[in-house]
Amino acid sequence: MQIDGIDLASQAFWERPLADRSAAFDRLRLDDPYRYYDLPAEITEQFPQKGFHALCRHADVAEASRRPEDFCSGQGGTTALNLPNEEMTRYFGSMISMDDPRHKRLRSIVSSGFTPRRVKELDEAVDRVAAEVVDDLLTTGPCDFVTEAAARLPLRIICEMMGIPEEHWQMVFDQSNTILGAQDDEYRDENLDLGSQLFLAAFQLTEMMNGLIAERVELPTDDLTSALVHAEVDGERLTHDEIASFFILLVVAGNETTRNSISWALHLLTEHEDQRARWWDDFDGVANTAVEEIVRWASPVISMRRTATRDGVRLGEREFAEGDKVLLYYWAANRDPEVFDDPDGFDVRRTPNDHYGFGAPGPHFCLGAHLARRQITAMWQQLRDRVPEIHATDAPDRLSSGFINGVKHLPCAW
Ligand code: HEM
Repeated sequence: MQIDGIDLASQAFWERPLADRSAAFDRLRLDDPYRYYDLPAEITEQFPQKGFHALCRHADVAEASRRPEDFCSGQGGTTALNLPNEEMTRYFGSMISMDDPRHKRLRSIVSSGFTPRRVKELDEAVDRVAAEVVDDLLTTGPCDFVTEAAARLPLRIICEMMGIPEEHWQMVFDQSNTILGAQDDEYRDENLDLGSQLFLAAFQLTEMMNGLIAERVELPTDDLTSALVHAEVDGERLTHDEIASFFILLVVAGNETTRNSISWALHLLTEHEDQRARWWDDFDGVANTAVEEIVRWASPVISMRRTATRDGVRLGEREFAEGDKVLLYYWAANRDPEVFDDPDGFDVRRTPNDHYGFGAPGPHFCLGAHLARRQITAMWQQLRDRVPEIHATDAPDRLSSGFINGVKHLPCAW
């Protein structure tokens, strides 16, 4: 593949077959591992801003994650495109777009909401909901696995965790699709520009959360919203805006990512019957490595951005200037042949598996990794026990995005 034909900034690149994507990153890793890309002119004409450097080696992604003082998360957001204004960065970013000390404060307050008792209750809820989802799937019969199965578990878990009443679940699902899939035609509203569409989605989620927060202030309950409303760290509480914006982050970070992992797993287990047989033969013994391999292979978060905080910041063989954007391509790091044998292969027993699907070590490592692993395991435990021959009957219909490695639809049968 010619390096000049690889344009990570173009939407078309992300619609190409996955084998092309892999070949492109192999080429970049070898020949230009910090390559600079301008953003498309239709964006920069409206919102002038810098392009980005693509980091695609495992070692460079790790290094940038480890040094938040040099490569921060709090300037302009954590995707290639700066969000149009401060207000939207605050709305969509929450802790993922903050640096210490604000990030640390918010993260420790939120973590204090996950007491051992709450985690245990959540684990039980995951098992219960996974069983219900598979009950419904068996009643429905062959269908779209994404919408009828994979999407249902994470959405319900986040809603139950936060105490969202059932009547809002569909709205939460729709708005999270809008926020993450805004670049894909299926989720685009032709009558609105991208900014307005994102803002409207966030507004609806915030309105609903504000109502819920007001109720929890009056009458504390057992859910995470209540814990967040009343949690204190060093005498400080979260503001209601901070809680609403954290919820948007959860919906965005915890919903699609888990759904996509479960969906990619169906694709992988269909394509690799030998790996399915290995896992089914010893489900509990293989589950931990299988789930890590699913997350590595799928890399549901393709990339996250950091911004250089000063002139002269070095990373590997390159020096960056203040304000330079670097994109940490987790998808590419997870296929770096320096670290992984047969990186495009799928091996449910891969060990070691030092993947960055949940981010590389650093302050922003995924807060929901435990919950995500639990959900993927519980869902596949149910499927293996009750419908072990379930398989995909077509190729995944992929989301058009350079940020989320999404599966929109995947027909299944058994
Ligand atoms: C397989 C599923 C998941 C994947 C692949 C995933 C991936 C990631 C990644 C790559 C990051 C790092 C962002 C960065 O580098 O800046 C992250 C952060 C985060 N994730 Fe996850 N995630 C998953 C599930 C979840 C779930 C279930 C939740 C919660 C319910 C969650 C909540 C968060 C939060 C709150 C952060 C921000 C942490 C911080 O900034 O300190 N994630 N996730």
